[in-house]
Parts: sequence; structure tokens; C-alpha cells
Amino acid sequence: MKMAPTTAPAPPWCSAPEALRLGRDEVHVWRATLDESPSRVDGFLHTLAADERTRAERFYFPRDRERFIVARGVLRAILGLYSNSAPEGVSFSDGSHGKPALAGESGGAAIRFNVSHSHGVALYAVTRVREVGIDVECIRSDLKVEQIAERFFSHHEITTLRALPTHLRESAFFRCWTRKEAYIKATGKGLSLPLDQFAVSLAPGEPAALLSTQGDPHEAQRWSLLELTPAPGYAAALAVEGHGWCLACWDWRTPTAPTNAG
Ligand SMILES: CC(C)(COP(=O)(O)OP(=O)(O)OC[C@H]1O[C@@H](n2cnc3c(N)ncnc32)[C@H](O)[C@@H]1OP(=O)(O)O)[C@@H](O)C(=O)NCCC(=O)NCCS
Repeated sequence: MKMAPTTAPAPPWCSAPEALRLGRDEVHVWRATLDESPSRVDGFLHTLAADERTRAERFYFPRDRERFIVARGVLRAILGLYSNSAPEGVSFSDGSHGKPALAGESGGAAIRFNVSHSHGVALYAVTRVREVGIDVECIRSDLKVEQIAERFFSHHEITTLRALPTHLRESAFFRCWTRKEAYIKATGKGLSLPLDQFAVSLAPGEPAALLSTQGDPHEAQRWSLLELTPAPGYAAALAVEGHGWCLACWDWRTPTAPTNAG
């Protein structure tokens, strides 16, 4: 199993072993493709709860509906591996700002997770006990990145972005965005945490880090951030409570359904 300590770059994406073990100082990140065949989408649909099916039905475009079904189905399948249950047996509870958690998981060895999806890619982070947040974004070239940054980013981030040559700003913007999102998702506070009140690293070559937060001078030291590379054209980041953990990156493969041929 390829594990990397958090000070190292993320390890390569690998096939997961049959017997998964998640220690207290380990973080597993799974990568999945959301564009699946109709039969697989249907297979995932059967594992969803009634409220998830209702949510799926609200999507206007079939592709968005199918991606939602696959994202939820894969989440259930992954969490089932850790909690030793069938995908349809996994149940969720919501935190005060809507961060989903595994129902009934609390105490010393509780499984925590977070999910992010963008276009056809989903990332899932799974930990024990430590809070975790993950974000993936498809890098779009139609965004006015300087204007968005001026509106939402912290003073340090805006200054750093402005100081970069123009051709490096778009990638720096997405590095910053995914690191900020991963952090607010790890805290579970979502957008109730003002985005301009904390700063992350974004300059090319600078390791991912939460640099400062307004109000609590110790908050930035409580978290570690790591850049992930899920696919060409995507930016992603992982935020984990504490330091000294190891990361494994797994590729999700939907098991092939047995055929009745013969
Ligand atoms: C909901 C939010 C937590 C993430 O939204 P997002 O980046 O659009 O979407 P992602 O795919 O990364 O994450 C969605 C998942 O986060 C999880 N989630 C929902 N609320 C959450 C919360 N409070 N904390 C952590 N995770 C949360 C859910 O699993 C959700 O999956 P689902 O949509 O299938 O139910 C919130 O931060 C948000 O609305 N962000 C808006 C994006 C933005 O404006 N960013 C500006 C950055 S500069």
C-alpha cells in the first residue's frame, strides 16, 4: 500500500486492496468517475434512500441526475467498506450547517468523511476521528478570477494573486479556491465562515497550508492542507485536522455485476 506522510506530495492513485484498514493516523482519498453506463447508474439508484431518490428526480438535465446518483451510490459503497455494511444499509445524519456524517458514528474510532464533485469527477476523503474536508473543481477559463478573488478572498490572497504574472493567475486562483473550500468543509461551517477571514497559500510551488485565521491565532496550526491532482484540468485540495497523518489515494472501480450468460 502506498502511503505518504502529510509533508510529502500526495501519493499516486492505486487500486485499493481487498482488505481495507483505516488507522487513526491515516486518511484515505478515493477518486471516482461519475459518467457511468445506464445499467450501472440503475444499480446505484437501487442503493439510494428515498430522500436521495427524490433529490435525484429534481435535476433537470439527465446527465446531472445520473452523476448525482453515481456520486451518492459510490459514497454509500465506499462507506459500506469501512462500516462493514451493504451500500443501502449506510445511513447519514447532517451537522448544523449541513455537513453529512455517518449516522451512529461517534467516539474514539468514528469514521468521518467528506465528498466533493465537479463535472464528471468525485473525490471522497475518509478518516477516523479527525475532521476532514475535500474540494475538487474543474478549472474553467471563463471565470473573471481577479474579480472573484477581490470579492471573496482575504487581503493576503488578493495581494499574492495580483503579484503573479497574468498567465499564472488562473491556476493560483483554483489552488486558492479549493484550499479554502476544503478548509471550510473540514470545519463543517460551510459558507457561514466568511471566506475573507482566513488565508491559504496559493503561490506556485508553495506547499498547501492554512496560513492564518482572524480571531483565533491557534486555529491555523490545528489543520493541515494538501494539494491533490485528480485529473488533468482539475484542481483539488484536502484539509485534515491535526498533523502527522499518512495519505493513501484509491481509485474507485465499480464491481462488475455477475452476468446470467450461459
Ligand atoms: C456546500 C458547500 C460546503 C460546498 O459546495 P460545493 O463546493 O459547491 O460542492 P462540493 O461538490 O465540493 O461539495 C458538496 C458536498 O459537500 C458536502 N457538504 C454539504 N454541506 C457541507 C458542509 N457544511 N460542510 C462540509 N461538507 C458539506 C455534501 O456531501 C455535498 O454533497 P452533495 O451535494 O452530493 O450532497 C459550500 O461550501 C458551498 O456552497 N460552497 C459554494 C462554493 C463557493 O462559492 N466557493 C467560493 C470559494 S472562493
